[in-house]
Amino acid sequence: AYRIILSLDPAFVDKLSAVCLIGTDIISDLSHPPSLTDNPYLAHHYNGRKGAAPEPAPSPRIKEPLYGFLPRKVIGEQVRKAMDGDINPFTKQPHSSQYKKILEARKKLPVFTQMDEFLKIFSENQIIILVGETGSGKTTQIPQFVAYSDLPHTKGKLVACTQPRRVAAMSVAKRVADEMDACSTESTPTVQLGRHVGYSIRFEDMTEPGTTFLSYMTDGTLLREATNDPSLERYSTIILDEAHERTLATDILMGLLKGVAKRRLDLKIIVMSATLDAAKFQKHFSLRSGVLATVFNVQGRTHPVEIFYTQEPEPDYLEAAIRTVLMIHRAEAEGDVLLFLTGEEEIEDACRKIKVDADDLIKQDSESVGPLVCIPLYSSLPPQQQQRIFDAPPATRSTGGPPGRKVVVSTNIAETSLTIDGIVYVVDPGFSKQKIYNPIIRVESQFVSAISKASARQRAGRAGRTKPGKCYRLFTEKDFISELEEQTHPEILKSNLSNTVLEMAKLGIKDLVRFGYVDAPPPETLMRALELLNYLSALDDDGNLTALGATMAEFPLDPQLSKLLIVSSEFKCSNEMLTITAMMSVPNVWLRPNNQRQQADAAKALLTVPDGDHLTLLNVYNQYMQNIHDKNWTWTHYLSHRALQQADNVRAQLQRTMERFDIDLVSLSDEKKLYTNIRQALVVGLHPSCGLDTQPEWVLFNEFVLTTRPYIRTVSEVRPEWLLEYAGNYFDLSTFIDGETKRALQLVINKRAGKFSKRIDSGKDNRKARKQ
Ligand code: CDP
Ligand code: MG
Repeated sequence: AYRIILSLDPAFVDKLSAVCLIGTDIISDLSHPPSLTDNPYLAHHYNGRKGAAPEPAPSPRIKEPLYGFLPRKVIGEQVRKAMDGDINPFTKQPHSSQYKKILEARKKLPVFTQMDEFLKIFSENQIIILVGETGSGKTTQIPQFVAYSDLPHTKGKLVACTQPRRVAAMSVAKRVADEMDACSTESTPTVQLGRHVGYSIRFEDMTEPGTTFLSYMTDGTLLREATNDPSLERYSTIILDEAHERTLATDILMGLLKGVAKRRLDLKIIVMSATLDAAKFQKHFSLRSGVLATVFNVQGRTHPVEIFYTQEPEPDYLEAAIRTVLMIHRAEAEGDVLLFLTGEEEIEDACRKIKVDADDLIKQDSESVGPLVCIPLYSSLPPQQQQRIFDAPPATRSTGGPPGRKVVVSTNIAETSLTIDGIVYVVDPGFSKQKIYNPIIRVESQFVSAISKASARQRAGRAGRTKPGKCYRLFTEKDFISELEEQTHPEILKSNLSNTVLEMAKLGIKDLVRFGYVDAPPPETLMRALELLNYLSALDDDGNLTALGATMAEFPLDPQLSKLLIVSSEFKCSNEMLTITAMMSVPNVWLRPNNQRQQADAAKALLTVPDGDHLTLLNVYNQYMQNIHDKNWTWTHYLSHRALQQADNVRAQLQRTMERFDIDLVSLSDEKKLYTNIRQALVVGLHPSCGLDTQPEWVLFNEFVLTTRPYIRTVSEVRPEWLLEYAGNYFDLSTFIDGETKRALQLVINKRAGKFSKRIDSGKDNRKARKQ
């Protein structure tokens, strides 16, 4: 319909488009009829007539695939017809044969079979709570259905779908781009990832303004965007996916969006969750008292999963897990295995051991033991390697024998965020890495702890995707019943909230206590956050955002790190601090292959700066840049090329933010002075929470980790006088409990006071001398 209008005189278009939009856009505020300039899509075409690059005009012979689509009144039959058509409705390019193949697979997903019902509910409601089993097609299909109904590309808007995890955002965006026809072998694919369908995660924005109409993003990214645009005007529909994970950012977004929905009647919100605990979300999103939000249940089709427990508690879950995987491989019928472990190191270690043991088994008995591949999955893995989990299992050997098997060893990512088809066996040791925050000692840490019953059920469910499966729980049934908590606690109850509180302040939320939380955070945690932000001068004594705080909120960093960057120019070391901050924002740069540990440690020693890890990170980056043209440099120094490349990219992005706020990029030429200044600036931003009774006496650290015993990461030596001088508010001894730290600092104060009084004494002597 728009195209006919465009051939008319622009003055006439203005009137016609208003009529046209009122007729089609049911949500429009009729008291303010939209004009051409309100409508970015039409404005774009209108500008196009004035000389801006126009979209290629469709061939007149091609029938418009979205002909007759009324935004938000679209029905299933129309969508299916458009999907089955030869022309891609979003790009107007012909569909490839690969597209048709994937479409056939999509049609089998439970969500797809309920398209009519979903579109009806979408037409009729502003807010929908959607509940469905993992693997039913929520994440991949619902945003596409929404795109067909909402037609964001005709309004210059976007559909957003949030994910708690970066891995999921990237991987699902790729899958959806493929489903919409990005994987055709023709030279220019019909739909392109990063153009029509995109993703946006911290430090990586793969979207194209004006072209992207569907974007997967981390919940943190959307929340950050809201700090600059609290009404999220760019979006026509926002889908909060994986709401059951109750991450901090999703929780805050739920509070925020409830308010936005009341202001922006044209914004639709869908909250998607894998568990049946929809009542809480339903109640939260009831905009009028007594009227609960609408729930849409996806009828899942899962197969039964048989659960096995151990007779006795397992003393070493890693060893038990490996043993169980090999037992399955030797004795069970065809089907892939999913093993849940807690983190990168553990996963890499397990993969290695499983491979060695499987090779042994095969050597002993290649006739009855099939080939096995073991694939790790965790968030810091490069994207191409993450994609490997979707590879087919190894084929049966050419000489015959049993079928091959794929073993995926994953963190919690595979619990609900990513669905891997073909999994028939799940091995669940019952642990995951969880965050915990102790507001009393101000320490946030991650440690391995028991999962909840809800998590254990989700994990077991992964085995019943394609056929009946088995789940081996490496704990006793008694422990499952009496030891595991019912639900995992929402992150908001166990996180340091300083970053969130700063974001909320930027969002203009005045009353932190009465903000519409799904679950309110503990008051002491809020107090700690306010205290820290006040200490960093991001909030004034009345809790209002300061100019400094507003600048700090612009950096996608923890407040301590953004403060560091901002003050570093005063310490004449902003160039260096930029590097250090970037290096702290990327995965570990040090490689330590199992069979070359000594060589790796020796290489690390050569790059180490004695004053501390922060300066070592700086040194590593500088050396990397100096040797950037030597392809082997990172490899021979046991450094991760990818992490360093990423650090360079992050550094450039942070630099742009610094330039935007006129923060000078400076360095001192005297290296010794520079190194001292860097450590002093670190004290201004990062307050140490404890002094360790080891060499060196006082350190500042970036991360506190609890494993078998507590340890700290990224450490630099500092002098106690600096703490008193640059972090005086924080090291106010009257607020310290009696103990070694207080006594040690008191000594420093006494010593300084001693020097000071001695000087006065000698002054007196001089005066006396003069008198005499
Ligand atoms: O969100 P939900 O767990 O309900 O399901 P989904 O992530 O939309 O996945 C639905 C199906 O899409 C999976 O079962 C896979 O068959 C397929 N899929 C895929 O093949 N590759 C991906 N990267 C993601 C999904
Ligand atoms: Mg999903």
